[in-house]
Amino acid sequence: MYLSAPEATDTDIEAVVAAMKSGWIAPVGPSIQAFESDMCALLGVRHAVALSSGTAALHLALKFFGVGQGDCVIVPTVTFGATAFPVSYVGATPVFVDVEETSWNLDPDLTTSAIKDLEASGRRVAAIIPVDLYGTPAQYTELQALALAHGIPLISDAAEALGASYEGRPAGSLGDAAVLSFNGNKIITTSGGGMLVTSNQTLAEKVRYWSTQAREPLPWYEHLDIGYNYRLSNLLAALGQSQLSRLGELVAKRRLVRSWYAEGLNHLAGVSVQADVPWGESNAWLTVATFDGDLHPNAAERVRLALEEQNIESRPVWKPLHMQPVFTDAPSYLSGVAERLFAEGLCLPSGPHLTQEQVMSICELIEECLAA
Ligand SMILES: Cc1ncc(COP(=O)(O)O)c(C=O)c1O
Repeated sequence: MYLSAPEATDTDIEAVVAAMKSGWIAPVGPSIQAFESDMCALLGVRHAVALSSGTAALHLALKFFGVGQGDCVIVPTVTFGATAFPVSYVGATPVFVDVEETSWNLDPDLTTSAIKDLEASGRRVAAIIPVDLYGTPAQYTELQALALAHGIPLISDAAEALGASYEGRPAGSLGDAAVLSFNGNKIITTSGGGMLVTSNQTLAEKVRYWSTQAREPLPWYEHLDIGYNYRLSNLLAALGQSQLSRLGELVAKRRLVRSWYAEGLNHLAGVSVQADVPWGESNAWLTVATFDGDLHPNAAERVRLALEEQNIESRPVWKPLHMQPVFTDAPSYLSGVAERLFAEGLCLPSGPHLTQEQVMSICELIEECLAA
């Protein structure tokens, strides 16, 4: 059993076949515009650019905001490496800031201290990238105010959060631009793919241009800029559009799965299933349980191994980026929350196919493992 298996229905398959039969087997075609406009309608943003990955979307957003050599970019330390890798692509330095206890997202107080400290030492903070971890929204009001006060662009990494909301506003509609991912394990998938969403027309136009090899509108290939081959293919956009039409259903199912885990685990002392935060609703992309390290030493790893023996995939919370060998030289502002989450947190199977019986049997295995 996988952590987050993709789901493809007959309708999804028919959508891809129809796109193939239409002859648009290329990174251009009507399904791309249709997918983008459905996403704009859903999120209430003006522009969406479908790309080959969320990582590509982050890369081009950073490029648009002029982030480059010598700049610093604030990144929460608890996230997938793909949030920080594009910072390195543009020659800037990621600065890892710890997360707060409630949402496990960028800590606004620590972010404030980090910006003041970096600016005092003469460094330019050129972007802030809050992440909506596992589908839980970050604290945008505080972060947006901070970004505005310092004139820093806010790029929301909502790769894991499509279908979630912050104070009633959809994840992906916050910040100066947001990034989505449709990787195979995400809540909707195009097997691989991503999107940049924004209401900034200049940004959307630039990203569309760069992502299609910076081609000038001339009969021959004419280039004034370095281009990127980052556009999503029309076939995959057809799959994305079909999947997007079921987003509500997929979110409801994942939230139901998470509620079954809560029922099966929250009564155990020192065990807690991540819940919604007061400021928003999660899409419950992954259900994450934490095991109190004093009551249950090394439990997350013991449970992971016990589940693995039964062919059930689970995964530790993201290893903090400040602990990653590739980022040992990057500055960090830490409170200890990230390292505790890495030691105590475990992502559990969360796909929409799961039945209540399967979730309950995973909970029983966990209970037995903790008692052993
Ligand atoms: C938080 C986060 N940011 C960025 C990405 C990158 O997205 P992609 O895999 O589409 O490049 C992912 C997922 O893969 C992610 O989980």
